[in-house]
Amino acid sequence: MKNDVPQMHTITKVIQENPTMRTLVFDCDYEVVPGQFVNMWIPRLDEKPFSVAYADGKELHLTIADVGPFSHEATQLEVGDKAGLRGPYGKGFWFQPNQKIAMVGGGFGSAPLHFTALHAVEAGCEIDFIIGARREDLLIYRERVEKLKGATLHVSTDDGSVGHKGYNVQILEKLVEEGKKYDTIMTCGPEVMMAAVANLAEKHKIDAQISLERYMKCGFGLCGQCVVDPTGDTSCTKGPVVSLEYIRKVDEFGKYHRDALGKKHEW
Ligand SMILES: Cc1cc2nc3c(=O)[nH]c(=O)nc-3n(C[C@H](O)[C@H](O)[C@H](O)COP(=O)(O)OP(=O)(O)OC[C@H]3O[C@@H](n4cnc5c(N)ncnc54)[C@H](O)[C@@H]3O)c2cc1C
Ligand code: FES
Repeated sequence: MKNDVPQMHTITKVIQENPTMRTLVFDCDYEVVPGQFVNMWIPRLDEKPFSVAYADGKELHLTIADVGPFSHEATQLEVGDKAGLRGPYGKGFWFQPNQKIAMVGGGFGSAPLHFTALHAVEAGCEIDFIIGARREDLLIYRERVEKLKGATLHVSTDDGSVGHKGYNVQILEKLVEEGKKYDTIMTCGPEVMMAAVANLAEKHKIDAQISLERYMKCGFGLCGQCVVDPTGDTSCTKGPVVSLEYIRKVDEFGKYHRDALGKKHEW
């Protein structure tokens, strides 16, 4: 099922992922390719895009970080509350059966990657799943990945409270330098992290897929809000998940993004 007009859906469960992130489970029948997003609408407030963290045609999960006015209201919603959803939109991650995949997630980026991993292990893929956060209590999806047969969890924290002390990209670098071979690297999270992953993939000539997030409004290529320099492509339809080859055509990747008014902000 797909909708371009928001339909109200009931929240059936709320999961506190860490001190500032919650997963909302909606009663919703969308069929979603992992990496695609939906627009969530809170009446009389606003509407924002969120990557789908899980969907099976019966329920749909969104993992939301409380960072501003909309996400704050969204993370206050409780079981029984309703919100509007439309979509799913954009292009998701892709893989072939039995591939070897590295996934590098930061922040809420681990949520759509875990959804992708669920599908990939079903297809016989082997996954190194690398999660990074500033501190142990901020890591999300750790237990879910630990339980996933076919996936090996690697963790980094900036303060060394658990796992590798430093960045998740350093774990990937070590794995590659030790001789691990990957058919593709998938990454979702802060753009500075994804830019480092893209550089590493390029250096070692490994295919990569990047979830390119730009300020989005319509979500389906109409409003022009999410165009990137210099291609002029709308990232909501070209992406959000794009190839390494494509990201090299996007000069602004890793450098700047635009706000709701089109003003540039450096990362
Ligand atoms: C494809 C895509 C997938 C996303 N998936 C998730 C997700 O799974 N979980 C999650 O917590 N957040 C996700 N976001 C970000 C989310 O859409 C909002 O940006 C975020 O919730 C902040 O909105 P706010 O109003 O609370 O805060 P604000 O204070 O308005 O914004 C905080 C930051 O979010 C950016 N932002 C605000 N509105 C938008 C928008 N409409 N589109 C893109 N960026 C925006 C701002 O530029 C700013 O950097 C995703 C964004 C995109 C484009
Ligand atoms: S959000 Fe409107 S064109 Fe992409």
